[in-house]
Amino acid sequence: MLYNSIRTTSLSLLLTSCLLFLGSSVSAQNMTDGTTHRRDECGTHVTEDDIANAELAISRLKLPRQASVREYTFDVHFTIVAANMTERAGWVPNSQIEAQMKMLNERYAGTGVSWRHAGITRVLSRYWHDSIEAGLQQTNDMHSLFRTGKSTTMNVYTVGFTDASLNGYSTLPVNYARNPIEDGVVIFFATLPGGLSLERQGGTLIHEAGHWLGLRHTFQGGCTGVGDGVDDTPPQREEHYGCPIGADTCPGGGPDPIYNFMDYTSEECRTEFTPGQISLMQKSIAAFRSNSNR
Ligand SMILES: *[C@@H]1O[C@H](CO)[C@@H](O)[C@H](O)[C@H]1NC(C)=O
Ligand SMILES: *[C@@H]1O[C@H](CO)[C@@H](O)[C@H](O)[C@H]1NC(C)=O
Repeated sequence: MLYNSIRTTSLSLLLTSCLLFLGSSVSAQNMTDGTTHRRDECGTHVTEDDIANAELAISRLKLPRQASVREYTFDVHFTIVAANMTERAGWVPNSQIEAQMKMLNERYAGTGVSWRHAGITRVLSRYWHDSIEAGLQQTNDMHSLFRTGKSTTMNVYTVGFTDASLNGYSTLPVNYARNPIEDGVVIFFATLPGGLSLERQGGTLIHEAGHWLGLRHTFQGGCTGVGDGVDDTPPQREEHYGCPIGADTCPGGGPDPIYNFMDYTSEECRTEFTPGQISLMQKSIAAFRSNSNR
């Protein structure tokens, strides 16, 4: 019933026939049953400039000292880019998209953020499915043609990626104004709940949506400097995989935040956002994503 409000499912079939056989499939789909196996590499890179610009904008906000958690609802629009109409070629079934929406709302409970399914666009292009990477011409073309909404709509593109270790990347809210067309999240199609990924069953979008709301990796900057910009995630030298209980890679601060959604640990291990992250999300939203007219 939560999803009675799904309005439009626009079916857009874009046939790039002349490019159909240009790129061979390089996604890591070499298992005979179609399931895929890859490390959870996230391609979201946060630069020193991004951090400085975000902190400056946030410092200019007139926020009450005891800021309570405000409620925000963001639209989520999916663009499914498939090589053909089979699941292993990226034709993600609607049931997985609905399960992903449910999981987003469950994992963001308590953060003030909720998500509303706004629609699905389906695109048939083997070339795009196989060749999307941040910054490439075809990636820009994809965004230009299919991005919908304003700063309050999270556009999620599911693709196969060229880089076989990549599970996803996101833009940051601080860069919305400079490049609204690129704004959004691009994920490996197999990572939705019930999908073909052996490691990820929905957690990739939980993580990327965190970046989309202004969070950094818990291991940002390693042991020194401002790190992820929140006080209650102890510094962490580098990303963790699996669930290395007790890992403590930096002096001081306590054990590494392996249970955090913004690490690379396993789906079962990642269960939390901290109050400090919730506060940073809230400030980032107030600074960059609170005005649905922008
Ligand atoms: C895919 O093939 C590579 C190279 O042969 C191999 O190392 C890897 O384990 C295979 N992956 C799967 C999921 O079978
Ligand atoms: C669909 O794409 C998949 C993955 O690239 C491929 O294995 C399969 O043969 C394709 N099916 C058809 C009917 O083209």
